[in-house]
Amino acid sequence: MNKSPTEELFWDTAEIHEIDGFWYYAERMKPMAAFRSQFECRNDDVFLASFPKTGTTWLKALCHTILHRHDQEEEEEEEDILTKKNPHQVVPTLEFSFLLGRVQHLLLSPRRRLMHTHLPYSYLPEEVTRSPAAAAAAGCSKLVYLARNPKDTVVSMWHFYNQVHKGSAGPLSVERAVESFCSGVMPWGPFYEHVLGYWEESKKRPDEVLFLKYEELCREPKEQGRKLASFLGRSFPSTTDGSGGTDDDDEVEKVLWRSSFGRLKELEVNKYGAVGEQGLQLSHTIYFRKGTVGDWKNYLTLDMAQCIDQVTRVKLQGTGLSL
Ligand code: A3P
Repeated sequence: MNKSPTEELFWDTAEIHEIDGFWYYAERMKPMAAFRSQFECRNDDVFLASFPKTGTTWLKALCHTILHRHDQEEEEEEEDILTKKNPHQVVPTLEFSFLLGRVQHLLLSPRRRLMHTHLPYSYLPEEVTRSPAAAAAAGCSKLVYLARNPKDTVVSMWHFYNQVHKGSAGPLSVERAVESFCSGVMPWGPFYEHVLGYWEESKKRPDEVLFLKYEELCREPKEQGRKLASFLGRSFPSTTDGSGGTDDDDEVEKVLWRSSFGRLKELEVNKYGAVGEQGLQLSHTIYFRKGTVGDWKNYLTLDMAQCIDQVTRVKLQGTGLSL
């Protein structure tokens, strides 16, 4: 494995390192390596993966709700774990805390495990990425990737980092954020290679790797919710109405509502809670900003937008993927 130069991160003093074409925070590298070498996969594991600021919080809430919806049917609203914990506490990002023991309870849980990673596909533990033939022989975990429009991702990231680093190194300019995004020199970057790693794999192993888009989830939540539930082996039941079967709309709607931006943002736990992150206490509110499609138009100049579009065209050309 090649470890190449260290870069001083674009707006503050955090170091990032490149490993095999991707950039990572220096301080994350030990837990990442531990996750890669020590993680033991189970056949019924569910992995969520995403580039930061592409809707990870939503994906975590949605998948948790789908997998546990039968438990919740018997529970009152206040028993819904999402009313007590932020989605990032319910579904941990494994490489963040692999060495801190914070995910031990999840790793040892006898129940079906739901976990998340921001790591690129090429960095995942071998057990997770084994070949289709080996997977077919041994059974295989499921992996769901969520992608988002690059311009909205940059804008979301820019807001997020300015919140996180408020008061430390001065604000990151939107120009700088766009520059870093396009060059790929940013934590977990390059964005396009990250997305394409999972995209290619979803083409090769559609039964084990599902590729979703934030914009499609916003545009057609019920269809996408049903697709996701069916992929996870938790299809919504059909009701018979005499003319064949139709899916149970109420149940789909309930799941979508439980994980919706409007609901989560207003929950006490997300208004006033905080989560420990990189030695920082991050307020849960920063995970819920606007949750819309196309907000980039309010922040990027025409030149910036065209610059990102050009990189997007070049990177995605011939891949069959549009973002
Ligand atoms: P914006 O900054 O554009 O509002 P991540 O979860 O990967 O950090 O991504 C954060 C983005 O997802 C933010 O986008 C945030 O507002 C949005 N988001 C968070 N929860 C959401 C939800 N339940 N539904 C839709 N979008 C959500």
